[in-house]
Amino acid sequence: MPQVIIIIGSLRKAAFSRKLANNLISLAPPSLTLRIAEIIQLPLYNPDLEGAGAPEAWLSFRAVVKATDAVLFVTPEHNRSVPAALKNAIDIASRPRGQNMWTGKPAAVASISPGAIGAFGSNNHLRQSLMAVNMPTLAQPEVYIGGAETVFDAAGSVANEDTRSFLATFMNAFADWVERNARKNV
Ligand SMILES: Cc1cc2nc3c(=O)[nH]c(=O)nc-3n(C[C@H](O)[C@H](O)[C@H](O)COP(=O)(O)O)c2cc1C
Repeated sequence: MPQVIIIIGSLRKAAFSRKLANNLISLAPPSLTLRIAEIIQLPLYNPDLEGAGAPEAWLSFRAVVKATDAVLFVTPEHNRSVPAALKNAIDIASRPRGQNMWTGKPAAVASISPGAIGAFGSNNHLRQSLMAVNMPTLAQPEVYIGGAETVFDAAGSVANEDTRSFLATFMNAFADWVERNARKNV
């Protein structure tokens, strides 16, 4: 059964993106095993620290990425782009040169924002980086969830049945994508 890590682009405890990630876990087909991989502990990437001085948190995170079969990114938008913490995580596991842990792993992106365009800018900037680290990324359906304040009920579940159904369709498409792009871990 493919193992999938979910990387959440927000460090905020009550993040809408974390709520969306939890809903995507519960709406996923049983063929996927999903778990959240945290990024809050990662120091900023600095090539000077590679080698003997590399932070333990970088090494553990690289091992987590190496071990997974696929990655689901769930992110908000910061100034029309990817939050710095998420970009930092991508940079860390792409280095040192020649040891890009992301390579070949199938990916998908879902974005969420209180704004009307559902973090479109972040979602699409992220796709540019995923190309650079050689991740085949699901093209359709695209998931841009706008109006984040109105999406979840008091228990944190997506309230609207059509939205739930759309997200389930997305997760089924991702499961199919993971199966079609499966490869041995690097
Ligand atoms: C530094 C910063 C920049 C932001 N820029 C945008 C933006 O470009 N577009 C947008 O829709 N929301 C923007 N927001 C608002 C976020 O969408 C909002 O804070 C959201 O709740 C963050 O996602 P989260 O709930 O997953 O943490 C920004 C927030 C911060 C802190």
